[in-house]
Amino acid sequence: MKIFLDTANLESIKKFNDMGLLDGITTNPSLMSKEGGNPKDAMEEITKIIQGDVSLEVVSTDYSGMIEEGKRLREYGTNVVVKVPMTPDGLKACKSLSSEGIPVNVTLVFSPNQALLAAKSGAKYVSPFIGRLDDVGQDGMNLIKDIEEIFSNYDFGTEILVASIRHPMHVVDAAKIGADVVTLPPSVLEKMLEHPLTKIGLENFLSDWEKLKSGNPDIKI
Ligand code: G3P
Repeated sequence: MKIFLDTANLESIKKFNDMGLLDGITTNPSLMSKEGGNPKDAMEEITKIIQGDVSLEVVSTDYSGMIEEGKRLREYGTNVVVKVPMTPDGLKACKSLSSEGIPVNVTLVFSPNQALLAAKSGAKYVSPFIGRLDDVGQDGMNLIKDIEEIFSNYDFGTEILVASIRHPMHVVDAAKIGADVVTLPPSVLEKMLEHPLTKIGLENFLSDWEKLKSGNPDIKI
């Protein structure tokens, strides 16, 4: 399973990239807005730091605006994936851009049928938002199961990019289903690194080592 970081925060991107954890990045206008400044600088920097796919989202809602923005976004790097919303114009833009060899991520997917249509339009990724479904009392992970089952019946080549992830158990469940990609807020990836027994175990190892050294201060590894 690929891990993308869902952020435009450069510090977090560098931190987790240095651990070798990141296969890509997803951003959206809200994440850009959260960081402030000029989003162009962030887009330029992120596409340089990350070798894998970087999703940058259009803000136009009409077909020609999306095509124009998509092509401009693609100038940031050959690893740019143009993110378009799951709308009729978004799918039309998905088809045009994809047939020109520009990969597309169709975002704001909330139903199996939307995922099916995005795949038919040639999307490289579909982004179902599971946390937002959970928020309105629907089971977001069921959507991932349904899309996985549908895609496994055909040969679309479209990857399921699980988005709107809120906690580490979402990641475990998405991995069990076999989702292709999870995109994680930095806080969730941080939590995945930790376990209280790891911390306690390390403290014990170090204090035992200190005991050994107190009898022989010259000991070194
Ligand atoms: O990738 C989409 C994601 O950023 C949406 O997450 O938490 O705003 O629902 P959230």
